[in-house]
Amino acid sequence: MSHPPSQNTNLSNNPSFESILEKRYPRRSILKGGFAAAASATFGGAALIACTDDNNSGGVPGAQMISALGFDAVPRNLLDNVTIPNGYTATVLYRTGDPITAAVSAYANDGTDNDFELRAGDHHDALYYFGLSSTGAADPASNNRGLLVMNHENITETYLHPVAPSPAPRPEAEVRKEINCHGVSVIEVSKDSSNNWSYNQSSSFNRRVTPFTVTELQGPVRGSEFVQTKFSPSGTLVRGTVNNCAHGYTPWGTYLACEENWPFYFRRDAGDDANRSADDAAQLARAGVRDGNSGNYAWTSVPGDEFQRWNATVNTATTATGDYRNEPNGFGYNVEIDPYAPGSRPQKRTAMGRFSHEGCWPAPAVAGQPVVFYSGDDNRGDYLYKFVSTENWDPADAGMGLAGGDKYLNDGTLYVARFNADGSGDWIALVQGENGLDASNALFTFDSQAAVIIATRLAADSVGATRMDRPEWAAVNPVNGEVYLTLTNNSNRGNNPAQPVDAANPRNYDSGTDANSDLDGNVNGHIIRWLEDGGMHASVSFKWDIFLFGARSSYGSDINLSGLDDSNDLSSPDGLWFARNSNLLWIQTDDGAYSDGTNNQMLAAIPGQMGDGAAMNVGGQTTFVGANLGTDLRRFLVGPNECEITGIDSTPDGRTIFVNIQHPGERGDTGNVTSNWPDGGSARPRSATIVITKDDGGVVGV
Ligand code: FEO
Ligand code: CA
Ligand code: CA
Repeated sequence: MSHPPSQNTNLSNNPSFESILEKRYPRRSILKGGFAAAASATFGGAALIACTDDNNSGGVPGAQMISALGFDAVPRNLLDNVTIPNGYTATVLYRTGDPITAAVSAYANDGTDNDFELRAGDHHDALYYFGLSSTGAADPASNNRGLLVMNHENITETYLHPVAPSPAPRPEAEVRKEINCHGVSVIEVSKDSSNNWSYNQSSSFNRRVTPFTVTELQGPVRGSEFVQTKFSPSGTLVRGTVNNCAHGYTPWGTYLACEENWPFYFRRDAGDDANRSADDAAQLARAGVRDGNSGNYAWTSVPGDEFQRWNATVNTATTATGDYRNEPNGFGYNVEIDPYAPGSRPQKRTAMGRFSHEGCWPAPAVAGQPVVFYSGDDNRGDYLYKFVSTENWDPADAGMGLAGGDKYLNDGTLYVARFNADGSGDWIALVQGENGLDASNALFTFDSQAAVIIATRLAADSVGATRMDRPEWAAVNPVNGEVYLTLTNNSNRGNNPAQPVDAANPRNYDSGTDANSDLDGNVNGHIIRWLEDGGMHASVSFKWDIFLFGARSSYGSDINLSGLDDSNDLSSPDGLWFARNSNLLWIQTDDGAYSDGTNNQMLAAIPGQMGDGAAMNVGGQTTFVGANLGTDLRRFLVGPNECEITGIDSTPDGRTIFVNIQHPGERGDTGNVTSNWPDGGSARPRSATIVITKDDGGVVGV
């Protein structure tokens, strides 16, 4: 249950695009010659082409161009297990409740366990592998030992307690456990001489970051009146991070845990707006911390400052430094963590914007150019952002740790995307004093950059950004620099007057006479891609098309626009990842619209390139659709019952991949356990990281 039904807070009414005119389809002109200079190579037994990125397209020099997938598609299924192709092996590595110190007992998995600050949290989400040398030093090239860092987005509350969570007022121990199940894990993993991976329960690198862990605010919001609280009257500290969904990683060797559905953890009692300024009420409502929010899991029913900090209701008997009215303003950021420094304090990088950050993905770093990160705001009708650093990248800063974040992430330009009807796009700067973001703005008093950041969504509303179908993960193709973004689905599209179909979000349809016939809008989601003009990720304009439309294969060609068949049909793409040094693309689903047909799944693709398809009229809406992939898109994995597949990374050689299975059995409860994965028998389900290898030792997927 990663997304509450209240996830619908873009009620703004931006002017929609001008009516669609017949316009020239944007043929790509940037990547000419990029593949022509390619030479054949072999890699993991598969035919590859070594692509020299010599035309400055925004890719990675020397990235490998894979020409074919190397496995047979697995069928859709509803099995309570992980299904993978023949020739591959999957093992379970790290499950909810697994201890991360020698002193903590094995997980009983019957609701009696505590100590989650020293165990794996719940709802494993994004992950990243940071290599370690044999002596335990940072070694990005290491293929057999590393630190796996992952998010624990949320909880399946029922399975954490002996029978069920107690009603409010809730026992402190229950709530403390639930809070500690959120956050981030850092664990040391290694491969033995038989190629079996395990985590080291006693490693001194092992760490949990939880909503209790003290973090520091950096960037424009630091020290501003927006974030003054009883805990931090100076507005510099915030306890913890919550609902960390997807992630980012940096060229200087750190991890970014991104805060997604944080607004719903905060309580605001009905009538609270009356005790706030109009600005404050507006930005909280737009963020999703509405007047009348009850706050997830009734954590505020426990007395004490550690729990009352989740109650943002204004106490009229005191001031901002006497209560937690401003506590929500300390959330909605990317939280930088140095996995190699277990004692270091996580840093919230506020310059990158405040919204429901799905994740934050870097463009390939180029010496002498800004560092660029792409971020989706996962909310129906919300936006795509990018951050461009002020400082230019110096390769000598690789391995710099949090000092790298201080240098590159505290000062830069935040942009929001507008997708134009003619296949072009623009990045609009969210900078105080520009584009109408000033004190006279009708939506918010943008009198400082801190104000622009606190009210990021209102700033983006004000400049006319394009409302998207729930932006999730982004990924940059290392071969050609094209950027891909999943748009998972949007029930509002075409139904909410503020979200009419547009060229970049062109579908509104009924899901038909299946088990989910009540669904409409963009039911199955799509994946958009773009190429920055000049092949420069810091560009302020781009060209786009739609790479892939999700659909059931049984749908007509008016909905199944990408020609999906039984080997590759999918719904609600969410996780998205390019293999570390090739054009092999992985797609993961978090779906509720095809759940009668298949459990959630992961597919692999060999994408073409932006502009390889054609302009198309979709129900009266002109858009641009990439070429059908055919057998270059195949289902690789199907997960157990009621899970989401999310989080993927590999060792640098691509021969081991790590994948997270989130919330199996999430619709059951302790009296009706709907999945027994991964432990089997009658066990309660657990989220878990799995390891997948190819039996011949080759690169996974090719
Ligand atoms: Fe937590 Fe938008 O997925
Ligand atoms: Ca996600
Ligand atoms: Ca999701």
